Amino acid sequence: MSLDNTIKEIKTSFHSDLSNCKTTTDLENIRITYLGRKGKLTVLFDDFTKLPGSEKPKYGKALNILKTDLNNAFNKKLNQLNPDSGKSNDNSEDFSLPGYTLPKGSLHPLEQITSEIKSIFQSIGFSVAYGPEIDDDYHNFEALNVPKHHPARDMQDTFFIDPNTVLRTHTSNVQIHLMENQDPPIRHICCGRVFRNEAVSYKSFCLFNQVEGLVINESSSFAEMKGTLEYFVQEMFGKGTKMRFRPSYFPFTEPSAEVDIWNDKLNQWMEILGCGMVNPNVLANVEYDNTKYQGFAFGMGIERIAMIKYGIKDIRLFYQNDKRFLEQF
Ligand code: DAH
Repeated sequence: MSLDNTIKEIKTSFHSDLSNCKTTTDLENIRITYLGRKGKLTVLFDDFTKLPGSEKPKYGKALNILKTDLNNAFNKKLNQLNPDSGKSNDNSEDFSLPGYTLPKGSLHPLEQITSEIKSIFQSIGFSVAYGPEIDDDYHNFEALNVPKHHPARDMQDTFFIDPNTVLRTHTSNVQIHLMENQDPPIRHICCGRVFRNEAVSYKSFCLFNQVEGLVINESSSFAEMKGTLEYFVQEMFGKGTKMRFRPSYFPFTEPSAEVDIWNDKLNQWMEILGCGMVNPNVLANVEYDNTKYQGFAFGMGIERIAMIKYGIKDIRLFYQNDKRFLEQF
């Protein structure tokens, strides 16, 4: 067969193979068959070297045209099947451009405040405890000196699962679990969700987070409680933050107080927590000797702390997962 015919035949069969080719695997086979080291085109070039010198110019030109044609058609097909291929050889790519930045997540503001609160109390010897979100009436109320029909139950609108089981209305239930499970001394905080059946508004939501603190030993005092909470406030809101203790009432503490801090921007006192000396009745309920042991407790809302610290006006923002809000922290 003459070289002319071979060139024509290779060209025709290459294009017909290429138009039947559907996958990059097919294409690779075509490359090997025609363009590979032992491929038809390569063999043709070998044959060319054996031609008499007088024929070389003519066939050299024809072979080069064939080679260019096959390579162009091949690259075009490769691009169709795999548009990303070969890009790195493309001179139009500017490798000095900065890379794509991937969107980065961050901790939820409540998580940030919670871990800040934990580390402040851990730095003065508190351990972190956990307790159940679903609890019985006894641990959420009764053992905390809030008997049935006590008016203090109205302070906390309760979600009941059944007449004896509640979604805890505060983290104070953990005080009872802690004291039931271990002997004094106790020096713990507990952070977690609490639930209240309140009308949802900018200032109250059906669930929120609290931090509870409990210290029980033979010597703790109201003065020590004040010092502890003062340390917390200075660490959390900055040195020099003004605070005051106001007499208050909680069934599980006696005497009880509420703590306010001065908000410079709003020019007003803001309540941040409740506290007091653990009521001897509560110690008796967990069978602690209340002539020997005493202690103090405190509880605060984490959203409220975050709202004051960051100037957030609506508690519902913490629960909407709006990225425009979350990205600010
Ligand atoms: N449990 C109270 C509440 O949810 C907060 C509280 C007040 C907790 C005084 C305490 C405490 O431990 O001593 O409103």
